[in-house]
Amino acid sequence: MNSEKEHSGATIASAEFAIEVQDLSKHYGDLKAVDGLTFNVRRGEVFGILGPNGSGKTTTIRMLCGILQPTSGSGQAVGLDVLLESEKIKSRIGYMSQKFSLYDDLTVVENLRFYAGVQAIPRSRRKERVQEMLALAGLENRQDQMTAHLSGGWKQRLALSCALVHEPEMIFLDEPTAGVDPVSRRRFGI
Ligand SMILES: Nc1ncnc2c1ncn2[C@@H]1O[C@H](COP(=O)(O)OP(=O)(O)OP(=O)(O)O)[C@@H](O)[C@H]1O
Ligand SMILES: [Mg+2]
Repeated sequence: MNSEKEHSGATIASAEFAIEVQDLSKHYGDLKAVDGLTFNVRRGEVFGILGPNGSGKTTTIRMLCGILQPTSGSGQAVGLDVLLESEKIKSRIGYMSQKFSLYDDLTVVENLRFYAGVQAIPRSRRKERVQEMLALAGLENRQDQMTAHLSGGWKQRLALSCALVHEPEMIFLDEPTAGVDPVSRRRFGI
């Protein structure tokens, strides 16, 4: 590991790396979903994980987001230890899940407001931030549509907007472009 350690065991942000993973594993019984993974990601770098279905990409992302406990090994994201500081990590990163984590029975703008609330964006800033996200995703004209009635690509745009609403330092995108057309991909920069 390149990061220094505090006495408490919490990781101090490495100057060079945004993510550091050392011998990280996740086993489900006999199944080794992730087995001894080691890599670093530099600050400002766009990093992709490629692999066939079932090769452990989602499992790796979820461990780095602090959602899933590793079986063994260590890792840090945004300078925080994935084992010891998982709650702090969740507030500082954005995560767009492979499965939509949107509420189908809320409208587009209601979903954004909900995530803005969950992420504790100050009330004074919330309205403005929701508008910024609607504009970024090109969803202004659909803001009152029920999410259930959106096409897959529009849902994807909304899910990305929800993941970005709290201005995270780092964003994890799991299969972000499935269903999004090339023009929209360029708009999002993905
Ligand atoms: N909660 C779980 N319990 C048991 N096995 C699991 C669990 N979650 C994932 N797995 C298994 O772990 C392996 C890795 O799954 P994972 O979802 O990380 O792969 P992936 O690379 O993201 O695949 P895909 O390309 O299909 O999204 C698979 O064999 C999967 O069945
Ligand atoms: Mg996956």
